[in-house]
Amino acid sequence: GLRIGPLLKETGHVTLDTGFTNTASTTSAITYIDGDAGILRYRGYPIEELAEKSSFLEVAYLLIYGELPTADKLQAFTERIKRHTLLDEKFRAFFSAFPRRAHPMAVLSSAVSALSTFYQDSLDPFDAEQVDLSSVRLIAKLPTIAAYAYKTSIGQPLLYPDNSLGYVENFLRMTFGLPTENYEVDPEIVRVLDMLFVLHADHEQNCSTSTVRLVGSSQANLFSSVSAGVDALFGPLHGGANQAVLEMLENIHKNGDDVESFVRRVKNKEPGVKLMGFGHRVYRNYDPRAAVVKKATTKVLDALGVSDPLLDLAMRLEEVALHDDYFVERKLYPNVDFYTGVIYKAIGFPTNAFTVLFALGRLPGWIAQWREMMNDPATKIGRPRQVYVGEGERHYVDINAR
Ligand code: ACO
Repeated sequence: GLRIGPLLKETGHVTLDTGFTNTASTTSAITYIDGDAGILRYRGYPIEELAEKSSFLEVAYLLIYGELPTADKLQAFTERIKRHTLLDEKFRAFFSAFPRRAHPMAVLSSAVSALSTFYQDSLDPFDAEQVDLSSVRLIAKLPTIAAYAYKTSIGQPLLYPDNSLGYVENFLRMTFGLPTENYEVDPEIVRVLDMLFVLHADHEQNCSTSTVRLVGSSQANLFSSVSAGVDALFGPLHGGANQAVLEMLENIHKNGDDVESFVRRVKNKEPGVKLMGFGHRVYRNYDPRAAVVKKATTKVLDALGVSDPLLDLAMRLEEVALHDDYFVERKLYPNVDFYTGVIYKAIGFPTNAFTVLFALGRLPGWIAQWREMMNDPATKIGRPRQVYVGEGERHYVDINAR
């Protein structure tokens, strides 16, 4: 049930809800989740249908503008994005200024933040035309930024976008192509990556989206707000989980595939030992995205002719966990990122680039949520209260007398 909280100034009451487990921060018409039933819908459309039939740019349009585009509108949107894929030449110096081993998520958030230095016309969050242009610039440039971050980290030359290619193809070519070679993009890889972007495109008020909204609620511009969202996504309890899952699987594999002893360590709550890729704040039955990814994993590995012992290991871990009281009682199931890493690895992405792929997918959701907030007359600056538990009043003691 929905209860609108009484205004604090009228009652003097404060609600303490650490981690916001029960507190809604907003109304929203974008994404619907029923965690008990395992339902996820974007603008009313079931995620399974969108994953199967739609494409990432179409879903981006749907999230941002509220309706599926007509063929003409989708083409116009796609063309507009293509016209903005280039980065200012000065951006090249920006990438080479970071240490080689810099984590690409750190580079990504810095680069997104830096966009507001290049587009100073975009700083007014109430200028609808500029906001639309900033949205297009972000969707167009994020793959270029992500690919450049990767290329710089391995010392390879940067490739300009090729706008004769589709959105995902272009990103793959900039990531894996070389100026000296003709890069053939595998359509199976394009299809699966596009689908994974669709699955990640929005998830209502998760940590990074709430961050984007909170920053935006101060009327900060879209680039600054999204940059903060990238930082929130970096953490292993959120987007960083896809990297953490693969590292966990690699460690178990290195230690002789001893799933049982790993699960024992998880259940004993050894510090820092969690079954990464399991559990979700909202889904308490299953994550509908995980079911789609699991199916795709086997299919894509078969199509690529890759056999990865980590996939068998992940399936064994899931099997053990699903029959273990610890996980059953706590309603812990695989989340979207339990299997994605195996696919990303098969495509050839290094482990530390996985979370960047999540960011590319989540971007339309951040933009749609930010715009919904800016257009909502009920929006106020986000300013949580606290329950103070520190010292009462006491008096300053001179440093020599302490
Ligand atoms: N492994 C082992 N135990 C777990 C796990 C896990 N992955 N997740 C939750 N638990 C346990 C908790 O220790 C807790 O046990 P307790 O009741 O004995 O104290 C119980 O299950 C409830 O968990 P909470 O941490 O209270 O659940 P919360 O909703 O706060 O956390 C979260 C959700 C952060 C996703 C958590 O399940 C987790 O850390 N999972 C691993 C990281 C991960 O995969 N994150 C990706 C999330 S999805 C996404 O962002 C795409």
